[in-house]
Amino acid sequence: MTNTVNRRLAFGALAALGLSMSAAPAAAQGELTVYCSVQEEWCRPMMQAFERTTGIKVSMTRKSSGETYAQLKAEAANPRGDIWWGGTGDPHLQAAEENLTEPYQSPALPQLQPWARKQAEQSGFKTVGIYAGALGYSFNTQQLQRRNIAAPKCWADLVKPEFRDEVQVADPNSSGTAYTKVATLVQLMGEDKAFEFMRAMHRNVNQYTRSGAAPARAVATGESLVGITFLHDAVAQAVTGAPVQIVAPCEGTGYEIGSMSIVKGARNMANAKRFYDWALTPEAQAIAIEAKSYQVPSNTASTVPPQSPKLADIKMIDYDFAKYGSSAERTRLLARWDAEVRNAPRR
Ligand code: F6P
Repeated sequence: MTNTVNRRLAFGALAALGLSMSAAPAAAQGELTVYCSVQEEWCRPMMQAFERTTGIKVSMTRKSSGETYAQLKAEAANPRGDIWWGGTGDPHLQAAEENLTEPYQSPALPQLQPWARKQAEQSGFKTVGIYAGALGYSFNTQQLQRRNIAAPKCWADLVKPEFRDEVQVADPNSSGTAYTKVATLVQLMGEDKAFEFMRAMHRNVNQYTRSGAAPARAVATGESLVGITFLHDAVAQAVTGAPVQIVAPCEGTGYEIGSMSIVKGARNMANAKRFYDWALTPEAQAIAIEAKSYQVPSNTASTVPPQSPKLADIKMIDYDFAKYGSSAERTRLLARWDAEVRNAPRR
């Protein structure tokens, strides 16, 4: 009995000692807070693999690109996140310009594709490209056939009356995908024409979702006939056997350079850099494939998933990331979208 009590006391004392030891230096060294802006299905295995590889405990929050940018801005005086992994490059560039993120040159930089290094160089090394993907849309083949509608091929098709209430796309304030759509149309058509087009398309939009990839899921289930997303998000639905066809619009389209940035004033700066270096390795980038994420990875030694849309085969604009990722331009275009598109009449 006494022995048991003693053992309990000894265990309790050790546990208390262990706790107090880990509460001070170990906690400071052993944790990382990640803001993740890809799909939850990719965020989770990525964080688990990093924990397994390093023993560092990750606390992860998943939010869309525009939402995460807004969170960094709101937390600037008292940063809570350490690293922002994933999401479209424009809001990462805006965060860099607004000094919300920290310059860092990873030793892995020379192993990256030129587009990923350019993203780093033009932000003063405050962000870096981790993947790329083209914008477009998908449609539900069964629904289209049932309604006897001709297959859409171009952006221009999405304003036709037969697609009334049948187009889904995200809100560009929360979603990087939808901001890429706004900036792409502006670059393709000229600004005033692009806004005219988006107002016409507004009549056909059934919902502006928060997350950029959500419309691809709505197409797969038949909830929406058409969904504007990155093409890789539609491929993720097609590989499950959903009746989905993918369209790279005939007029041409834009693309994203998915990015990663370290939060300025990160509490776990050393671990943030460790994650950054690790996330650029081919091993870490290969996790995307298991997670059905078919972006083109940025490390030249990474395997491009065979399911990835072939960027070289798509008519692509020369997307001006410096301009459309600038604070002034992104803020201005979003305000114009709110005023002229979101609130436009639907008749
Ligand atoms: O993970 C899918 C994905 O489309 C990424 O390629 C992209 O960076 C991100 O989601 C954008 O998400 P959102 O539009 O919700 O900001």
